[in-house]
Amino acid sequence: MSTALLNDPTAADTLPPGPSASRPRQTVRWIFRPGAMLEDCRRRYGDMFTLRIAHEGFWVFLAHPDMVKQVFTGDPRVLHAGEANVVLLPMLGHHSLLLLDEAAHMSQRKLMLPSFHGERMRGYEQVMAEVAREEIGRWPLGEAHPVRPAMQRITLEVIMRTVFGVQDEARRRPLREALTAAIEWGSDPRRMALLASLGPRRVAEARMFRRVRDPADELIYQEIRRRREAPDLAEREDVLSLLLQARHEDGSPMTDEELRDELMTLLTAGHDTTASSLAWAVERLVRHPDKLERLRDGDDEYLDAVCKETLRLRPILALVLRRLTEPMEIGGRVLPAGVNVAPCIYLVHRRPDVYPEPLAFRPERFLEQPAGTYTWIPFGGGVRRCLGASFALFEMKVVLRELVTRLALRPADPRPERITRRTITLVPDRGGTVVAERRAAA
Ligand code: HEM
Repeated sequence: MSTALLNDPTAADTLPPGPSASRPRQTVRWIFRPGAMLEDCRRRYGDMFTLRIAHEGFWVFLAHPDMVKQVFTGDPRVLHAGEANVVLLPMLGHHSLLLLDEAAHMSQRKLMLPSFHGERMRGYEQVMAEVAREEIGRWPLGEAHPVRPAMQRITLEVIMRTVFGVQDEARRRPLREALTAAIEWGSDPRRMALLASLGPRRVAEARMFRRVRDPADELIYQEIRRRREAPDLAEREDVLSLLLQARHEDGSPMTDEELRDELMTLLTAGHDTTASSLAWAVERLVRHPDKLERLRDGDDEYLDAVCKETLRLRPILALVLRRLTEPMEIGGRVLPAGVNVAPCIYLVHRRPDVYPEPLAFRPERFLEQPAGTYTWIPFGGGVRRCLGASFALFEMKVVLRELVTRLALRPADPRPERITRRTITLVPDRGGTVVAERRAAA
């Protein structure tokens, strides 16, 4: 945030309208009731409104697809995303794709894109299915069981095998433990408060943080060194092996630090998100037994529609952020440099003019109309669109297919689960709790 703008008492006058409550009150509501707050604001102020969030300056929310389009197709020099993610610096490091902007971002993104091309995903199908089968096979039967932690074990294991490419369980085990410890440290809300008060650069050097990050780093660097020398490097399909063979425009390979930062980025961006989306899919499906039944027919198009509808109705991120480096006109209004604009996934996905009966879980809508570039935005958009979107959708489909063909599922409690916050993601408040039974025909 430009501190000049943050401290400028007149800045609020030049911004779109928004609640008049104090910054701390707005922040508390944003943390505890994000959905209700967004809906209220849209009702009162329309498709463009301003919230004031602690340490974040001004967020101008955009809930109209035309405004979203302007941001996603706008000039990346004016719309910075990396700057807004600086809180992730201690864990992800300076080279992380999530933290870069402009030319540095584009050059790193170009190196990584080919590894995540839709076509590549088929190569991961077998591993994903195997990991899902092993985990689902351990689920307790006949008793209430929250699926989110189980999904997280699946997605972490999938990343370790397909992205890090560690095939040997003896090496995977310490890596799994070290990564889990580092991730847990970062996802504790008290640590978030510490981050906010100390500033990310000081946290990165703090001893208590390094105690959890350094063991994970050491194992990651070991893997990188070992893989560089692997005689079968050229034949390997995992993302690390592909990145080791990628070259910058000047012909140089990625450094060990770059590789470490991108592996941590893929892990952080890729496993919790997919696990929570899978938990939502299960939470919605068990309350719509007809749709769960239809999935069992094995129709791939319907499975795809179920995943898309889950990500529409229960997006795990409510918004994406871009910080303006220059004034920019959006929706007929000039917004000043220094503000954050926030294409609002949550509100765009609930527009009745785009999605009739927006609150209904109806996968069929995606069989009738394709997902629109600026109206279905769970993965953001433009040059910052989620690098792992194909990976995540593919993984969701493989895991759900394994699940519904093996187990019969019903809700542990028929009441729908509420949307609650887990750091920045929106998850089911009971973790997607179901009762599983072995399927009669399985
Ligand atoms: C359902 C699961 C997922 C959701 C909902 C999701 C959502 C998102 C969103 C909203 C963004 C920001 C886009 C923007 O600013 O316009 C993003 C960025 C990103 N995601 Fe995902 N993601 C998911 C899974 C994954 C997976 C599996 C990976 C990798 C294995 C991944 C890697 C990334 C990376 C590297 C970025 C940064 C892209 C850039 O800045 O150029 N994500 N994701």
